[in-house]
Amino acid sequence: MKLFILPASLLYLAFTSASPLAKRDYPAVGACSGQCSGRLHDPSVVYRADTKTYYRFATNDGINTATAPSLSGPWTFKGPAMPNGSSIDLPGNHDLWAPDVFLLDNTYYLYYSVSQMGSMNSDIGVATSTTMDPGSWTDHGSIGIPKSSQYNKIDANLYFPSGAQSPVLNFGSFWQNIFQLPMNNPPLTVASTTPTHLAQNTTARPAGLVTGSMEGAYEFAWNGYTYLFFSSGNCCNDADDLAPPGEEYHIMVCRSSSPSEAFVDQQGRDCLTGNGGTMVLGSHGDVYAPGGQGVMYDPNLKTPVVYYHYVKPSVSYAYDDFFFGWNKLDFSNGWPVVV
Ligand SMILES: *[C@@H]1O[C@H](CO)[C@@H](O)[C@H](O)[C@H]1NC(C)=O
Ligand SMILES: *[C@@H]1O[C@H](CO)[C@@H](O)[C@H](O)[C@H]1NC(C)=O
Repeated sequence: MKLFILPASLLYLAFTSASPLAKRDYPAVGACSGQCSGRLHDPSVVYRADTKTYYRFATNDGINTATAPSLSGPWTFKGPAMPNGSSIDLPGNHDLWAPDVFLLDNTYYLYYSVSQMGSMNSDIGVATSTTMDPGSWTDHGSIGIPKSSQYNKIDANLYFPSGAQSPVLNFGSFWQNIFQLPMNNPPLTVASTTPTHLAQNTTARPAGLVTGSMEGAYEFAWNGYTYLFFSSGNCCNDADDLAPPGEEYHIMVCRSSSPSEAFVDQQGRDCLTGNGGTMVLGSHGDVYAPGGQGVMYDPNLKTPVVYYHYVKPSVSYAYDDFFFGWNKLDFSNGWPVVV
């Protein structure tokens, strides 16, 4: 999640000529029953094979956890993963953000962010568990990303490139957007303090404002490529102060044959130097500002899926009323299409 709180009206004052993203026909959101709305920003979903259970983690409190027998539910709220918050000594350490959960060698790793709205005084930490059940997580604190004015230390995503000896961690939000660091194995700490810059939106903004947002990076391997999914735009909008159409949160993608460089979009635009990014999912019908996404191969549906949070304007724009959504992804033309 974000961030940078600026009223959308101020942020976009000078953007009266901003071109809205092309209208697309998107399929309906995948079915969901049980706990499908509430405080569920930036979901991370992991399938636990031995109990055939899906775990869904979300921003806020000690990382809100829900479980279900399938992606479509019924989802049952289970409480905070880390009821005592994080040992990272920063403001916000009892209201953790942007979980990313990864299974490695029979241990689940939960990456989380400690921050506050609009603050760069942030850090990324990790906790481990063998079950993913609330209260079972052992906190290991900060993973050691160095402080920098280039990025905010939020929105972690662990990715294990096939054939590699150890994973990498994607992170970042606003400022210069998305970065990556190699991790040690086991991935409790960074293996280097020199991040690689993966992607940036350099679209000019009104004087004094940061460049365009790109956050919530999520890498996913398919057919020999690494796909870099991210959220672009304004994550959270007030009903009376919405971002201009097309500038609200939406899900985009770039891809590369490397996990760490040379990402381009479907038109061949460079995602670091050429404002590249191909739309995967934007607002449609009663779905507004989808983002905070992750991608997984669903072993039951036997297909890759993208899952995300979104707003239902017919219900509310309120922060605590976000919805959980998902769709199958078709990669047959080399680029993910929601189907
Ligand atoms: C939370 O803190 C309390 C009080 O220190 C402690 O008794 C409890 O075991 C902690 N819970 C977890 C899950 O760490
Ligand atoms: C970059 O920012 C501009 C302005 O907000 C936006 O229109 C565009 O979609 C963004 N591009 C990407 C790749 O995020």
